[in-house]
Amino acid sequence: MIIIIIKFIHYLAIVFSGGVLVGSGLIQSVYNKENKVPDITISKILKILGFIGLVSLIVLWISGIILSNLIYGGFVINSAFTFKLVAAAFLLILSFFLNLHVYNSSKKNLPPNKKIVKISTMSARTLIIVVLISAAVAFN
Ligand code: HEM
Repeated sequence: MIIIIIKFIHYLAIVFSGGVLVGSGLIQSVYNKENKVPDITISKILKILGFIGLVSLIVLWISGIILSNLIYGGFVINSAFTFKLVAAAFLLILSFFLNLHVYNSSKKNLPPNKKIVKISTMSARTLIIVVLISAAVAFN
C-alpha cells in the first residue's frame, strides 16, 4: 500500500513539473512572438510557476529515493536508471539556480535575464524528456 501511495505522489509530481514547463514555456513564447516583456502580474505568475517546478522536483527526488529503496533496495538498478538519476540531478540544480536568479533579480527590482531564462527553459525541457525516456527504458 505504501508503495502505491508513494508512486502516486511520484506521478503527481511529474504532472506538476511537466505542467509548469509547458505553461511557463507557452507564456514566454507568446510574449516573445509579440516582442513584449511580461508585465508585473505575469512575471509574478512565472515566478510562482518556477517555484512550483522546484518544489515538484524536490518531491520527485524524495518519493524517488523512497521508491528505489523500498522496491529495489537501493540505487543500483540498471544503467538507464543511473542515467535518469544524473539527468534528474541536472534538472534539480538547473531549477534551483533559475529560481535563485529570478529571486535575486526581483529583489533588485530587475527583470530576470532573458538569455538565462531562455537557455534554462530549453535545457529543462530537454532534460525532462531525457529523464522520461530513461525511466521508460529502465522500468520496461
Ligand atoms: C525529473 C525527475 C523524475 C521524473 C520525470 C521521473 C519519472 C518517472 C516515471 C515516468 C516513472 C514510471 C516508470 C514506470 O513505472 O514504468 C518513474 C518511476 C520511478 N522513479 Fe522516477 N522520475 C524522476 C525522478 C526520480 C528520482 C530522482 C528517483 C530516485 C532517486 C526516481 C526513482 C523512481 C523509481 C524507483 C520508480 C519506480 C519504478 C517501479 O515502479 O518499479 N525517480 N519515475
